[in-house]
Amino acid sequence: MKIKSILPVLGLMALIACTPKQDLPVYQDESRDLDERVADALSRMTTEEKIAIIHAQSKFSSPGVPRLGIPELWTTDGPHGIRPEVLWDEWDQAGWTNDSIVAFPALTCLAATWNPEMAALYGKSIGEEARYREKDVLLGPGVNIARTPLNGRNFEYMGEDPYLAGEMVVPYIREVQKNGVACCVKHYCLNNEETYRHTIDVDLDDRALYEIYLPAFKKAVQEGGSWSIMASYNLYRGQHVCHNERLLNGILKGEWGFDGAVVTDWGGCHDTWEAIHNGLDLEFGTWTDGLTMGRTNSYDSYYMAAPYLELIREGKVGTEELDEKASRVLKLIMRTAMKSGKPFGEINSEAHYSAARRIAGEGIVLLRNENSNLPLADGVRKILVVGENAVKMMTVGGGSSSLKVQKEISPLAGIRARAEAAGAVVEWERGYVGDTGGNYNGVSTGQDLSESRSAGQLIADAVAKAAEADHVIFVGGLNKSNHQDCEGKDREQLGLPYAQDELIEALAKVNSHLTVVLVSGNPVAMPWVEDVPSIVQAWYIGSEAGEAIADVLFGDVNPSGKLPFSFPLALGDSPAHQEGMNFPNDGKCFYGEGILVGYRWFDAKGIDVLFPFGHGLSYTSFEYSPLAVSRGRSGAVANVSLVLRNTGDRAGAEVVQLYIGDDESSVLRPVKELKGFRKVWLEAGEEAEVKFEIGEEDLQFFDADEHCWKAEAGSFTVYVGSSATDIRCTASFDYK
Ligand code: BGC
Repeated sequence: MKIKSILPVLGLMALIACTPKQDLPVYQDESRDLDERVADALSRMTTEEKIAIIHAQSKFSSPGVPRLGIPELWTTDGPHGIRPEVLWDEWDQAGWTNDSIVAFPALTCLAATWNPEMAALYGKSIGEEARYREKDVLLGPGVNIARTPLNGRNFEYMGEDPYLAGEMVVPYIREVQKNGVACCVKHYCLNNEETYRHTIDVDLDDRALYEIYLPAFKKAVQEGGSWSIMASYNLYRGQHVCHNERLLNGILKGEWGFDGAVVTDWGGCHDTWEAIHNGLDLEFGTWTDGLTMGRTNSYDSYYMAAPYLELIREGKVGTEELDEKASRVLKLIMRTAMKSGKPFGEINSEAHYSAARRIAGEGIVLLRNENSNLPLADGVRKILVVGENAVKMMTVGGGSSSLKVQKEISPLAGIRARAEAAGAVVEWERGYVGDTGGNYNGVSTGQDLSESRSAGQLIADAVAKAAEADHVIFVGGLNKSNHQDCEGKDREQLGLPYAQDELIEALAKVNSHLTVVLVSGNPVAMPWVEDVPSIVQAWYIGSEAGEAIADVLFGDVNPSGKLPFSFPLALGDSPAHQEGMNFPNDGKCFYGEGILVGYRWFDAKGIDVLFPFGHGLSYTSFEYSPLAVSRGRSGAVANVSLVLRNTGDRAGAEVVQLYIGDDESSVLRPVKELKGFRKVWLEAGEEAEVKFEIGEEDLQFFDADEHCWKAEAGSFTVYVGSSATDIRCTASFDYK
């Protein structure tokens, strides 16, 4: 290009560069410091405008400041896909036709990948979907610790271990927020059961609080940089968490320096005075019906609306707290809705479906596989699939995480497509009737699951066909209906519902090539475990369920998922179900097991489990070398390394898990605690060195009396293995 011809272009560029920023008010000038912009916006707002932005104006939005061009803030559930649009003031569907999306695997499945790269891919993909749907705040992810296998919402969380949940939540948040969409990490905190979530008053010792229930939230805030957090429904030490002085002002904002906005769970605020003083920033609701019930029940009547304004007008409270709340909400708006140059996002793209399938493929856990029953052999010609969960759509139901999907491939459809491509035939028998519903807030699966056969007949029909098949695949489990993995309603038993045990036992009797695929977000009891050669934990996978399950059953994907929580043999073995723990509980509940949650409890008490935390098999095998431990450099206490070898005949991945135990301590400590993990991919016969660096914080416990973290001098043991009970090598080192 000649110099002459580019002169006009250069001139235009110079003009753009010189456009005076002075034309923009400070709060709109994105080149200015965020706090400066917030202060400027605040200085232009009336008290009424400040009050308006700290509470909802509709089911999912807050108003912004129209007069100043400060946009509304739109939130959405979360956490597995972007919720369909509801009416302004109703939970019913708005009836849009452009809000069907991709359902990603439930967070239990993500946690089961034990792969932070999958968490990043998840965050990127769901963040893009939120952005395309023009949402500013994604209500998720959830990191409440799985204290009991009966918690109806465990499927929305990342398991029983704070380290695993913390490592997985950080990349999710970072990637979502790159889209200019905030995460709202939930439900902070101690929301560990559902049925009495509004009334349960949790108490526990500080060690359990700091060592078990808080670390994942802390990482979400400090490392993930979450721009908002959702306070939970329950009470802690007699005060609702949505306005709990210690948890919000003391720990979250004080000790951790959280600079984002604290949002209520919907309807979680109960007291204006406490809300004003105890750290709440933004109130959302559930039971408002301002359109039909008038002012008494409208958004103006929220605790942080007219009642707050009245207290200010009467001079009973000042405006210092209001300014603080409005500033945090303004900051949230500036980081999201008011941010320019955001990516545009996308929904239902090939990339998102393939992300969902990849994450699922890495999260499905092969629990048991005797006699190489899986993967399905080439010679298998007649496959019988049994079970309602093989056909039932699972993306509708379960509570606020319910979705309206563009597509959902059922397990039966996925298995059938893959089998037929290999020249096999697939038949289906229902076997049992579970939940024939398929409707949530007006989204309907459109499936007719009515059944006229009796329970006995259903079993007889399935058994008759099973006897003739080369391989039987039972797909059952739970189903997100009331008490079967569902918000607001805990499970009532560890066992499988709908007489599935009887059916599985009957199938096992007539066909030794049986695979049980469990669709659930929680552990279930398996009285038939010894009679079933292969068992697969398939979670709630979402849009790509059938394809991902088929990938694993047929060996196109070598399973590499590991359990994010222990499967107890019996409910009574679980720490939260000991005498006096009182589950479920609608009053005071003291977490008597303290820090001994999940495998920490089973280790301490020497209780055998059905499948341990961290367990998951592969179609190949791995050999661990002994550990090499060396003195740490540059701040590390010790360096640990080993060589991992794929000794089987196909490529696969192993999750090498590192646990640490304090050999002698002045306080009770778990036998061992997860402090590191690496997912390692190896070709058949390949080996790789796996390294870990142990830091001082990996040795610490929380000293409740002195309110600080402490590592005591002495000997520590490193346990490295393939699950919490399959430890392949150990070594010791001294600290100090
Ligand atoms: C749930 C939250 C959810 C909110 C909005 C509440 O009932 O507990 O997780 O984000 O509703 O749907």
